[in-house]
Order: sequence, then structure tokens, then C-alpha cells
Amino acid sequence: MALQGPAGAEELLFYVNGRKIIEKNADSEETLLSYLRKKLRLTGTKYGCGGGGCGACTVMISTYEPVSKKIRHYSANACLLSICSLHGAAVTTVEGVGSTKTRVHPVQERLAKCHGSQCGFCSPGMVMSIYTLLRNHPEPTSEQMIAALAGNLCRCTGYRPILDACETFCKESICCQRKANGKCCLDQDDSSFDKEEKVSTRLFSTDEFQPLDPTQELIFPPELMRIAENQPKRTLVFHGERMTWISPISLDELVDLKAAHPKAPLMVGNTSLGPEMKFKGVFYPIVVAPARIPDLNVVKRTDDGLTVGAACNLSLVKDILTNAISELPEEKTKVFRAVLQQLRTLGGEQIRNVASLGGNIISRKSTSDLNPILAASNCLLSLVSKGRKRQVPLSDIFADGAGNDTIMPEEILVSVHIPHSRQGEYVSAFRQAPRRENALPMINAGMRVLFEEGTDIIKDLSIFCGGAVSTTVCAKQTCGTLIGRHWNEQILDEACRLILKEIAPSASGEKADYKKTLIVSFFYRFFLEVLQSLTTMDPCHYPGIPVEYRSALQDFKTKMPQSIQIFQDIDPSQSPQDPVGRPIMHQSGIKHTTGEAVYVADLPSVDGELFLAVVTSSRAHAKIVSIDTAEALKGPGVFDIITAHDVPATNEFYYSDDPEIIFARNKVICVGQIVCAVAADSDVHAKQAAAQVKIEYEALEPVILTIEEAIKHNSFFEPKRKLEQGNVDQAFETVDDIIEGEIRIGGQEHFYLETQSVLAVPKGEDKEMDVYVSTQHPAFIQEMVAASLGVPANRIMCHVKRVGGAFGGKLLKAGLLACVAAVAANKTSRAVRLILSRGDDMLITGGRHPFLGKYKVGFMNDGRIKAVDAQYYINGGCTPDESVVVAEVALLKMDNAYKIPNLRCWAYTCKTNLPSNTAFRGFGFPQSALVTETWIMGVADKTGLSPEKIREINMYKENEQTHFKQKLDPQNLKRCWNECMEKSAFYSRRAAVSEFNKQNYWKKKGIAIVPMKFPFGMGTRYLSQAAALVHIYTDGSVLLTHGGIEMGQGIHTKMIQVASRELNIPMSRIHFCETSTTTVPNACASAGSAGTDVNGMAVKDACQTLLKRLQPIINQNPKGTWNDWIKEAFEQSVSLSATGYFRGYNETMDWDKGEGQPFTYFLYGAACSEVEINCLTGDHKNLRTDIVMDIGCSINPAVDIGQIEGAFVQGIGLYTMEELKYSPEGVLCTRGPDQYQIPGVCDIPEQFSVSLLPSSQNPYAIYASKGIGEAGLFLGCSVFFALRDAVAHVRAERGLKKSLVLNSPLTAEQIRAGCADGFTDMMTNNESASSTPGATSMCMANQSAQDRNGTEN
Ligand SMILES: Cc1cc2nc3c(=O)[nH]c(=O)nc-3n(C[C@H](O)[C@H](O)[C@H](O)COP(=O)(O)OP(=O)(O)OC[C@H]3O[C@@H](n4cnc5c(N)ncnc54)[C@H](O)[C@@H]3O)c2cc1C
Ligand code: FES
Ligand code: FES
Repeated sequence: MALQGPAGAEELLFYVNGRKIIEKNADSEETLLSYLRKKLRLTGTKYGCGGGGCGACTVMISTYEPVSKKIRHYSANACLLSICSLHGAAVTTVEGVGSTKTRVHPVQERLAKCHGSQCGFCSPGMVMSIYTLLRNHPEPTSEQMIAALAGNLCRCTGYRPILDACETFCKESICCQRKANGKCCLDQDDSSFDKEEKVSTRLFSTDEFQPLDPTQELIFPPELMRIAENQPKRTLVFHGERMTWISPISLDELVDLKAAHPKAPLMVGNTSLGPEMKFKGVFYPIVVAPARIPDLNVVKRTDDGLTVGAACNLSLVKDILTNAISELPEEKTKVFRAVLQQLRTLGGEQIRNVASLGGNIISRKSTSDLNPILAASNCLLSLVSKGRKRQVPLSDIFADGAGNDTIMPEEILVSVHIPHSRQGEYVSAFRQAPRRENALPMINAGMRVLFEEGTDIIKDLSIFCGGAVSTTVCAKQTCGTLIGRHWNEQILDEACRLILKEIAPSASGEKADYKKTLIVSFFYRFFLEVLQSLTTMDPCHYPGIPVEYRSALQDFKTKMPQSIQIFQDIDPSQSPQDPVGRPIMHQSGIKHTTGEAVYVADLPSVDGELFLAVVTSSRAHAKIVSIDTAEALKGPGVFDIITAHDVPATNEFYYSDDPEIIFARNKVICVGQIVCAVAADSDVHAKQAAAQVKIEYEALEPVILTIEEAIKHNSFFEPKRKLEQGNVDQAFETVDDIIEGEIRIGGQEHFYLETQSVLAVPKGEDKEMDVYVSTQHPAFIQEMVAASLGVPANRIMCHVKRVGGAFGGKLLKAGLLACVAAVAANKTSRAVRLILSRGDDMLITGGRHPFLGKYKVGFMNDGRIKAVDAQYYINGGCTPDESVVVAEVALLKMDNAYKIPNLRCWAYTCKTNLPSNTAFRGFGFPQSALVTETWIMGVADKTGLSPEKIREINMYKENEQTHFKQKLDPQNLKRCWNECMEKSAFYSRRAAVSEFNKQNYWKKKGIAIVPMKFPFGMGTRYLSQAAALVHIYTDGSVLLTHGGIEMGQGIHTKMIQVASRELNIPMSRIHFCETSTTTVPNACASAGSAGTDVNGMAVKDACQTLLKRLQPIINQNPKGTWNDWIKEAFEQSVSLSATGYFRGYNETMDWDKGEGQPFTYFLYGAACSEVEINCLTGDHKNLRTDIVMDIGCSINPAVDIGQIEGAFVQGIGLYTMEELKYSPEGVLCTRGPDQYQIPGVCDIPEQFSVSLLPSSQNPYAIYASKGIGEAGLFLGCSVFFALRDAVAHVRAERGLKKSLVLNSPLTAEQIRAGCADGFTDMMTNNESASSTPGATSMCMANQSAQDRNGTEN
């Protein structure tokens, strides 16, 4: 089938977007992603992680099967597909779906118009997942839609608007919102809002949408069909630079190849091999691709089961099983159902579409979700090798616990036989992962029992577990011991103990107790399931399980959320052309969804351009003895290696006592510090060479990683800060009661979808350099680059078109990386591009500060808090960055919504040997306010009053001042709280939660409502100055620029709205090109929610200047058009260009006195969240969230609500999911989406309502608006406290001690530990538990004495 190329080389033939591609030099190591982006210049497909975990690179692959004459369309991750696997396939990328030049596809249009893109970096991937689903199902169900998006991550939107867009394609619409005239069926009651205020719930209008017309889609290339039908298949061989790729067409050929090259792996989906080769440096000179061999694609139904070829992809296996289940009697399909259960959440659809059954089995990873259930179910593997064929039960492979050498390297798995279940046989599969979907499991299990006919006597039992050790393990002895026993409570306790003894000892290390608890909890669930089935079968003999236990048998499912957004309607008297206050689509929305939006990595290559790969320290604290670059320099395409010695001027920047460092010079101070960088002709060559650089270290003491170690070594960044008001010590003397405690809050990775990116282009004269960089602060980059090169700032032109998400992470860190690229560009006199890989980005750039909060709180029995003494220790990492300012903000905002008359708080910034932490949305507030809310809960627990009561009693009242003596008017705080109470129907739902909890033992609900005061301000005037530049051209078009950066928050859209109102022209006449230091100098960072406030003022100022100049002309010709006036102005020599300026807010803070006005105004809000937890696994589901937020008068409600929702979901991540893990040596272990889980589409509340508080004015900001970028994040803690509430219900029911401090993130592990029962007892008290017969019973509420009532913490 392959074309014959020159000198016998194969030519690879495939289609991309209807265009034929013949590649004469196909390199088997090249992925489709790099081919699309570099060779075809199709940059719509994005790099987000390179490992199949984020979906940014999603494309649609179409193949034709000549026998069935069927075309298969499926989504896939281009970052894992080898181009060689695409011979004969058609690829559709976002560019092929639609474009502004041809036709914007309905998917692209609706995603943009429903406000489903913010930074836009995930949007092409989202489009491709939705588009592929629609190609296969033009009217999908909402379940199909949700499943299609499970493999796509978005860090900005919180998914709600994306799902809104998706829902418009679904058969059934959950909500009438879009159809009705502004009032939605989900809008329970608007009565709480002022009746005078007209509210709206329509952020978009479906009337504008083009219909989906499947006949308009690209057809499958007829040439590929002809080739598939007419040309005989033949072996394909592609020789890459280092690797040979062979695709045989027969099993015999494959057997011969494997005999000749036993070490050559079989590559099918490349989802296991690919990440190994990319991230672990594994290399194979030969790979064999068996996907075209018919024997490996067989699907055969037999009398006793199903035989499925090893190369069948997991989506196909899912379909086959689903069909079989629908056609066969239930009794025969129990194994199929259990396997299907695992397949539903295994990876995302992009992974399942390519990952093979055989690959999953043979990889023998401990995280395989299939091996435990297939092994427990007696599946048979058909293996062949040269001269040998055999059938092996999969269980044999794991029976000895090794799971490694039973299959020989030269053996090929041809097919897998999955048997029917039999009468009296019960099969189940379980898994628990850090995120319910698209995340590798922590622990999974497959369990099967077969009873003697008509009895509950165990005839056969199999239990296999994954995740405990490096491969699947079998509880063989346990199963053997239990044979012959009745399935009743007596075996439960024994079985759990035996399983723990046999399997769990190996479950050591990280989360060992949790893993062990899960294993026995899974067995318990299996026990209940089987018991329930026995009862259904024979209710007279088998009593069944108590009603309140039955909810344990149901898993949480992801449903299409119901959502509503309520905002103030436009005043009817407002001019229809005036866009302010309207939900205008993001200015780049359509470009995001068509893939036309350009990010730094997408910029066309510059002649002679070099790529950089950084070499980072592998030690946390060490002297650099030597750097050996000899091997690296010999690598193909290597141009140069850049070290600290190549920095012409500043390598260390002293913004405080300790420096920020570009390249480590003599010593390293954290793992991940940049030591040098390799410049080569491609990123692949640069990375290969970087791996060859050898650095010799000499250990230095001390190595400080934790806050405790920093305290021990007195290692802090100065200054330490303190605020105090009232007389704290005296107040403690007079209070009724005191609590003391501490809480830990883990850090957070920004996980902007676009990794840090720079392109430095020397201009060849006067030392000028263009720097294109993904940053929030171009002026700072300009200053740093100029200082590092030793040139004046006027030689460095810094340009930012847009940023693919930043959240605070692209300030100083982006500056250092820009310096690395600029120094390399300066040395080599070439353009240099540095795009960090996801792993390097996570390793190098730090994130949100981990906190340790300690508190002592004095209060009266009626709930009034009189005195607080709190200390916050924050882990700043190895350099100062903005850590001290983060600590200051943490102190200034720690009061959240409460007036504490006597308050003392301290903040200490710990200097450690971790990568330096930096700004992150909320800037210390999300952590210090969580500490506050924790002690609020503590007071509630101690007084026996409800947390709401404690919150209300202590909330700010009129004429009160903050702890640094700033006045505030808390009227809108109270309004938000009351609105939220009402809209969420808090009290009736709290009663319903209690009722649910009474009726369910293993599932519990929790509900919490949290208020918020979010002060706005930068603390000092000069940090909030801003400037704008507006040109009017003689054709009447306007070019606008200002100092703000577009990173998803819609600032340019809002600025165009402002200019449109001020100039009184339509938005369509105004264009925004880029933010640049050449047009607006010295701009402040786009940070701290201030972008719109300050730049809006500057844009308004510039526009008013222009209008003033035009006014005489307008007055002379009032009926003239804009164009007439501009023409006239030009002819009268009136300048049509103006700058605008805003001096900044008059903010000050005197830290010596502990007083000041560091903030200009306050935002307020409240959120109520309800959750349900699974007490057996710790898993939870976010059921409902209601947010009410005071953001003044919104300039653009779609953008603002998007910010609130996106931040809220990021807050859910911070407080409940995202866990950074370091090795004891200080190495960050969580360096990709497979190890670090941000919220996915399955994590957003099933019911999600956001209301903007009406009638709120703000005299300090543009058009009475308020800066909203950060505030919503903290409200994510309502989920944290709802979870805590659910755990408290469990503990109350079980008579466990009430007071409970849970750390953040409140993961499933902590929830499970909080729900202490006989299973957790087995871990904490193994000895005593085993000596207490019956410690485990069906009612597993027998807890260890140590955790029971009585002592408070
Ligand atoms: C983002 C992501 C998420 C994932 N999530 C999950 C998850 O939740 N649960 C889970 O279980 N797995 C998960 N996986 C793993 C995935 O299921 C496996 O990687 C996949 O099934 C392997 O199949 P493959 O065709 O891609 O294998 P490849 O990577 O192509 O090959 C893997 C190995 O199998 C061998 N092999 C393949 N076929 C044969 C054969 N017929 N005979 C002999 N040897 C063979 C190869 O030699 C190679 O060593 C995830 C993977 C990714 C990338
Ligand atoms: S870049 Fe391919 S999945 Fe993330
Ligand atoms: S819009 Fe989804 S990652 Fe930014």
C-alpha cells in the first residue's frame, strides 16, 4: 500500500484537512503534533502536556475499513500519535473544521458565543472533541457529550460555558433557559432581588447560531478508500533518524520480527510506550506496529464468551461489550459489565480510542484498570511466538505476585478471551482515582465469587488488586482459605484481615494506609453487592442488606450540569450601540475556537532560529563542582551551550536581600534551578543534548524543604510582618472559652494550559532585540532582559499578543526565562525559542505558597469571637520573588468577613530549598482566609452553635474598621449573604441533608455557606498606574492599545467596550493588536484583579482627549458621520492619536504602625455548596453551588461570570484536589496531568448558579464596576466546608469526636480517614483490631476507642 520512495525508502501517505500529504522522510519518532505544527504550519493544535493528559492536542482521525466498508472517525491526542501510524488515514484538525476565511463551523461558533473560551488555549482541543462526537452522533445525548469532554482540561472557564455550548447540540435540553424569553426553569426564585432591578439570565442567544449541517463536513478522501480497497497490503518500514518503524501485515511476519528483535516493543496506541520514551528517556531502535494484522483485530463471539484481538482499541472493546450486554441474558454478562465499568472512566475518550487491550494487559502497570478484573474473571490470553502457541489464564501472570516474567519478551498477545459469567457467579470491579474521570487509579480491584449451585457456599473466589505495588497482585491464599464458607458476616471480618495480610503489606509508601483501607472497603462493597444479589434471587433465604446501606452500591455519575447565571439587565434607555454592561463575546473567541489565535509557540519560525532546552539542577542544595558539556556539544544539530558565563551583565537580580538568578553560577539552591541551556536546530535535538550534560555536585548543608525545617534553621525572608489591634492578651483573660489549633494548606500549580514561552529575536543592529513572550508584565521583562544584556531598555521591544493562561505564574518567572532566551540569542546572534515542556514548567516555576496556619481563638459562649492570635508560615521556596508581599496580603486579608476586636497576626516567609513560589490568583488570601474559616468552624463546634450563626454574629457591621484601621461599608456583604441564603434555600436544604444522612449510612451529604470580603488594591499608588494609546486612522478605524495583558480574562474585550462607549462608535471599528513596550511604556503588571480598573481609566482618558479634539468638528456638522468627522479632523490638522493615563489609586500602608488604606474598595460575595461523599472510598460529588457576588456594575457580565466560575473551580482544585508531592530530596514528583489533577468536567457542581448582586455601585472604578479576577477562587472553600460537614455527620452518627481539623486539599484520602470505621481501624490499630473478633461487621461502625467521643483536639 505504501508508495515506493527514492532508494527504497517508504513514502508515508495520509491526508490532513482534505489535503494529500506524502512524506518521503517519515521519522517514526515524530508525533503528529510536531508534524502538524512544524511541517504543515497548522498551529491550531496545541501542546499542553505531551502525554495524552490534557486534550489540547485533540484531532480527529478517520480511517476506512474496506471489508465492512465503514469509515471510523475518532478523537485522538496528536502528541502521542506517531506519524507512521497514520499511513492511509485522514486527519482533521481545528483548521479543517472551519475558519474565518471560509466558514466558521457551528461548534466553533457556539463555543465562542457561549463564552466557552477565555485564554483560548484549550479551545481547539475542545472543538475537536465535540466535533468528532457530532460526526459520529449528530444528535448526541448529554451523557455522550460529557464523556467526550472527559479527556479535555480547561484551567480558565470552569467548564460551565463549554457545556452550555455542548448542550445546544444535544437531543434533550435540561434547561429551558435558552428557549424562554429570559427566564429560566432553573431559576427557583428571583424574589430576593429588588423588584425594580430587571435581571437577565441570557448570556447568549441561540437565535444567532447556524444549524449543524452534517452534509457540510469534509468527506473521507476517496483516494484513500480506493487505495484501501484496491492495493494489496504490504509491510511498511520507515527509517527515522534513530528509530526504525516496521508494520507487518501477517501474524507469521510479526512472529519472525519478534524472534529477530525480541526487545523491539509492539506499538499500537503508543499510550504506554510514548510517555515512557518521552518522559523516562527509554529508547528503542526498532518498534513493530502490529495494528494491521487481522488476527490481532479479531472480534468473535463464542459459546462461552467473547474473543477480542489484542490490537482492538478500548473504545471498540467498550462498544463490543455494550452490545453483548444488550443481547445476552444478564446472568452471562456479569464479567462484561464489570469490565465495562472500568472502561467508562479509563483515560479520556482520546486515550480509549487508540489504547489497545493488549497494550493495557502487557504493560502490566500497577495502574491497569483492566488486569485485575480480567484476571479475576478467568480471562485467557492467546500468546504466540516462534514455534509456540499457548493459552494462559491472565490470573497465572499475576498469581506469583511478580507479574513480570511469565510472558516472554518474544511472545505476542494475539487475543483475549473474556468468558461469560455463570449461574451463581458474581463479578465486580472497583477503582478510586484522584479525579473520577481521566485519572490513573490509586487502587483498583477485580473480584469474582462462584457459589455451589443454589447455595451461598463459596466454590471459587478471586481477588486481584492494582495500585498496591508495581503490578497487579492476587489475594490467592485468602481466596483459597475462604472456599467452602458461607457468604455471610462471619467471613467478612476474616476476609478483610486475610486480604490485608496478603496484599496490603506490599502497599507501603505513599498513602499506604489509605490504599489498604480502600482494598478492604472494596471487598466490603463486593460483599454487600453479592449479598444484595443473593437476596434478589432468593429473598426467603437471604435477608439482604439494610436499606440504609444500599446507597453504598451506587457510584457517582457525571451528569450534564444545570446552571443559571443571573445579572443586571441593561437600562432600556442605554443606546443599542453602547456595549457596556452587555455580555459581549470575547474579542478573540472565534479565533480561539478556529485555532487562528496566535500564541508565542505558534509564531512562524525566524530564519536560522534555534531552540533551547534547559538543564536543571537535580540537587536541592549543592555546590556545582563541574559542568561537562562535551558529550552534549557533539549531539546532532547542537549549536551552543549557554551558562552563567555568557550573561553579559546581570545574572543575579537583587530586588531584596536575596537574588533572583538566571543561571546558577557556583551553587544550586533547589531542584529545578536552571544551570545551563542547550541551543540546537530543533527542540528534539536540544532536549536530547540537554540530557547529555553532566553536572557534578558537592552536597551543601542544610537542605531545608519544609516549613518546620525552615523554623528550625531560622531560615526566613525578611521582613516578618505583624498586625495588631485591641488588647489581645487581656481579651483572652475575659473570654468564656479558647480553642487552639493549626491547619496546613498545600501549594498549587498554576497549570496554565500554555506553558512558559519566549521567542527572542536579535535585530542585528544597535543591540536591538524583539522579545515575544507569554507574560503578564512586559515592562518587567523588558527591564530584566535589558539588565541581563547590559543594554538600555529602549533596545528591547517586548510584545505580547495574548497569553494562554497565567494566574500569576507569568510574572517574575517569565522574566527569568526571557533572560535565558535573550542571553542565548545574544550569544548566538540567532533567534532563540524557548517553550518549556509541561514537566519542566511544573518543576521550575513554582506556584502557590503552602501555608501553615496556627491559631488561638477566644470567644464567648454565645459565639462572639473576642480575640484571635494567629501565625502564618508560608513556604517561599529558594528565592524571594513576591513571597513577602504574599505574606503581607495574607495578613491584610485574613479577617475575611469578620470583625475581631482583639487581633494579632504574624506572617513569616520561610526560605527553603524548594523551587521559588510566586504570585497566584488570590495572592495569600485563599490560604489565610481558609485558616479563619477553620477557626470559625472550631468555635461553632465548641459552642454547639451552627457555623452560619458564628459567621453572622461576627460579620462586619456598619462603621467598623479593619484590623489595620481601614473603614469599610459592609452593607453588600450582608446582602450577598442573605441573597445566598435565600437563593440556595439554605435552611430547608440543610434539613434535607440531615434527613438524607439519617437514611444513608455509607453515603453522606454536607452543606456549607461561606461569606467573603475581598479587598481590592495594590497597596501603593504607582503599582496601579496605567496608560493607553489610541490612534484613529483616516478611514475611521481605531487602533487601541493599553498596558494590560490578555490572558483569558477578557481585558481587551472590555477595553474595546470602553472605547466604543467613549468614542460612540461600534466595537467593530476598534481593533486591538498587541500589548507592547513600544507603544505603552512602563506598564504595570496585569495582576491583582486590577487590569480592567486601571487600564479602563486610561483608555477612557485617551478617548476623551480625542473626543474633545473632535468636538468642534462634530458641533459644526452634527449630522455628519464618524468618517466625515475624522476626514475633516485630518484636513484641519487635528491630531488623531492620543495617550491616556491613570495615576493609580491613592493606597498606602504603614507596616511600622500597622495602619493604612492599602485598598480602594471591597468586593463581597457568598457561596453555598452541597456535596455527597462516599464514606467507603472518600470520593465525593459536588451537587450544587449557589454564588452571589457583588461586583458593582459589570462591564461585561459574560466575562465577569466566567471569571467567577473559573476562579471558583480553580478554588475547588486548590481546596479539594490538587496535591503537589515532593520526594524527601526535594524533587517535585507531580510534573504532569497524570500526576497532578486539576478539576475536570466531572468536578463541577451538578447545579451551578451565579448571581451578580444588583444595585451595587462603585465610585472608584470605571463605570462603577469592580475588579473580579481573583475573588471567586476563595469561594471554592464552600466545597471544602461542605465536605467537612459531611464528614462531621458521619462522625456524629458513629459517636466519634466532633472537632476535626482537616487540611487542604481535602482529598479523598482525608475524607476516608475522617469517616473512621472498622476498616480504618484495621490500619491504625492492626494488632488490637485483629484481636477483637467481629471488629468488622456489616455495620462497620465499630471504631477504635482512641477516636471516639470525649477528648476534643
Ligand atoms: C493519559 C493517559 C491516561 C490513562 N489512563 C488509564 C486509566 O485510567 N486506566 C488504565 O488502566 N490505563 C490508563 N492508561 C494506560 C493505557 O490504557 C495503556 O497505556 C494502554 O492501554 C496501552 O495500550 P497501547 O496500545 O497504547 O500500548 P502501547 O503503548 O502501544 O504498548 C504498550 C506495551 O505493550 C506491549 N504490547 C502491546 N500490544 C502487544 C501485544 N499484542 N503483544 C505483546 N505485547 C504488546 C508493547 O510491546 C509495549 O511494551 C492511560 C494512559 C494515558 C496516556
Ligand atoms: S498535549 Fe496532547 S494531551 Fe496534552
Ligand atoms: S480557556 Fe480553557 S484553558 Fe484557558
